[in-house]
Amino acid sequence: MQTLRPFEPNPEVLKRIRLMCHRDVRRVAFLHHQAMGKSLWAQLGQRFLREIYRGMLDTPQFLGFVYEEDGKIEGFIAGSTETSEMMKKVFLKRGHRLGLAGVMGLRNPTVLKHLLETPFYFRNSNAPNSDSVSAESLFCSFTPKLRGKRVSGHINKVLFDTLWYKGQRQVKITTETDNTGANRQLQSWGFQNQGTFHFYGKEMVLYVLDFSTCERLQRFDWTVPQAWKHFQFN
Ligand SMILES: CC(C)(COP(=O)(O)OP(=O)(O)OC[C@H]1O[C@@H](n2cnc3c(N)ncnc32)[C@H](O)[C@@H]1OP(=O)(O)O)[C@@H](O)C(=O)NCCC(=O)NCCS
Repeated sequence: MQTLRPFEPNPEVLKRIRLMCHRDVRRVAFLHHQAMGKSLWAQLGQRFLREIYRGMLDTPQFLGFVYEEDGKIEGFIAGSTETSEMMKKVFLKRGHRLGLAGVMGLRNPTVLKHLLETPFYFRNSNAPNSDSVSAESLFCSFTPKLRGKRVSGHINKVLFDTLWYKGQRQVKITTETDNTGANRQLQSWGFQNQGTFHFYGKEMVLYVLDFSTCERLQRFDWTVPQAWKHFQFN
């Protein structure tokens, strides 16, 4: 078992974390766009992002949490138990809305070329020894004033504990090789680097975390009542 720096959850921080729901979509899309504006989906605009989040929220595979301070969402995490399955459902159900939002938000035609690569994401982001990892942490972002304070660490923990509770044994995440903040955080959690791949014209790194060997996680943490309040375990 890898020795990590101890992570003692702060109940005050946990209290501010709850499940993401439809009314959060506008703010989440805004935060996503602000922090990850150069990512492919963000380049199609906030309207497109809102449609994506609405679509994901309607699938049973999606798992998202927000961090709220004084009634304002200051950060979020979005994950899934099976991303390709989830995205198929999103595109089947909301394809027409996504198409319209994407066309309206398109500022740079090269984005279209990269969009066509999307089906290859699932192939490229599967390292040979991570085929069995279906759970994924897709997006996480906090406003700059809250970064580097382990608040994001808490929301990671809530997502990973919940995925573990729901029967997942590992989680994967891809990020840009040059995203210093994300790489630092993932390494501090004991994520194992599974190699790099090129996607959307950028070098990406794939990480996998094995829940049972991560001493920061519990199979299920009942100390987060807010997070489970509206939660249907299925
Ligand atoms: C990626 C992101 C969520 C990381 O959040 P964060 O606030 O840095 O994460 P944490 O505070 O939990 O800290 C991560 C680790 O880095 C360490 N750390 C934080 N700031 C540090 C610094 N200045 N120097 C060295 N280490 C630092 C922390 O101690 C922590 O390690 P620990 O878990 O062992 O304590 C945040 O940078 C962000 O919102 N970025 C913009 C959006 C983005 O790029 N998202 C990722 C793409 S999906």
